[in-house]
Amino acid sequence: MASVLVTGSADGIGRETAAALAAADHRVVLHARSEERAAQARAAVPDAAAVVVGDLASLAETKALAGAADSAGPFDAVIHNAGVWGRGRARSTTVDGLEQIFQVNVLAPFILTALMARPGRLVYLSSGLEARGRVDFADLQHERPPWDDMQAYCDSKMFDVVLAFAVARLWPGVTSNAVNPGWIKTRMGGSGASDELPAGADTPAWLATSDHPSATVSGRYLYRREELRANSSAYDVAVQERLLESCASLSGVELPR
Ligand SMILES: NC(=O)c1ccc[n+]([C@@H]2O[C@H](COP(=O)([O-])OP(=O)(O)OC[C@H]3O[C@@H](n4cnc5c(N)ncnc54)[C@H](OP(=O)(O)O)[C@@H]3O)[C@@H](O)[C@H]2O)c1
Repeated sequence: MASVLVTGSADGIGRETAAALAAADHRVVLHARSEERAAQARAAVPDAAAVVVGDLASLAETKALAGAADSAGPFDAVIHNAGVWGRGRARSTTVDGLEQIFQVNVLAPFILTALMARPGRLVYLSSGLEARGRVDFADLQHERPPWDDMQAYCDSKMFDVVLAFAVARLWPGVTSNAVNPGWIKTRMGGSGASDELPAGADTPAWLATSDHPSATVSGRYLYRREELRANSSAYDVAVQERLLESCASLSGVELPR
């Protein structure tokens, strides 16, 4: 039995992953943005051991969440699943004045990774759209017009792979990987998506808990349990270091080396 935290488990792929892990008798801790969503998450996955609460669009709440999550641990694995995209909306900023997609999709998993006790395994939900991500550290917050919500999402999902690979390189004792879950029928993926929820939950749950030799290799980008070549920037150590520096400077949190 493994102990696993799944962020963003009130809905979608995260909820499905948590339910699948609980059904396989693992100890699962859920995460939701608010007490109201936490109650809904618990109702959907009644066998979960606990629910931790924190809005990932707030630096203060994310930092507090790291402590609350550690109190609900220890964890063999953490699945960084929570994410947002723009849906054609105008650029929006968080309570911290940061661009929302970047803060929720990239900065929040960085903060949780840096502040929480190291689990044995880390899984970061990326997307096939990471291939269209572009590295532009001069405009990480997408302040330069015109605003392109899709580009901001693609960039954030590329940076999730960069983060997974950076952690894999710096923490050799931890298995850290990124996952493209496929196009899944969720609120984000839409009803026209090609695949059902279990297909999206399978690889994250497998990476978090399986003893299969392929599930315990670190520093890979996977789709359907198979390694794919990621955006070339993700393998670039200079890009990895620059992302860690940028996240540390924006959050005031350093990734322990
Ligand atoms: N569905 C797809 O086709 C697809 C494809 C590629 C990658 N992905 C990735 O897979 C992951 C899960 O996506 P999904 O399709 O399951 O999306 P979803 O159905 O929209 O669920 C997203 C989850 O993240 C949570 N979340 C979002 N913003 C948050 C915040 N500020 N604080 C705390 N929690 C927050 C949501 O909470 P609320 O429900 O309370 O908003 C929800 O539980 C994402 O990282 C996404 O980028 C999905």
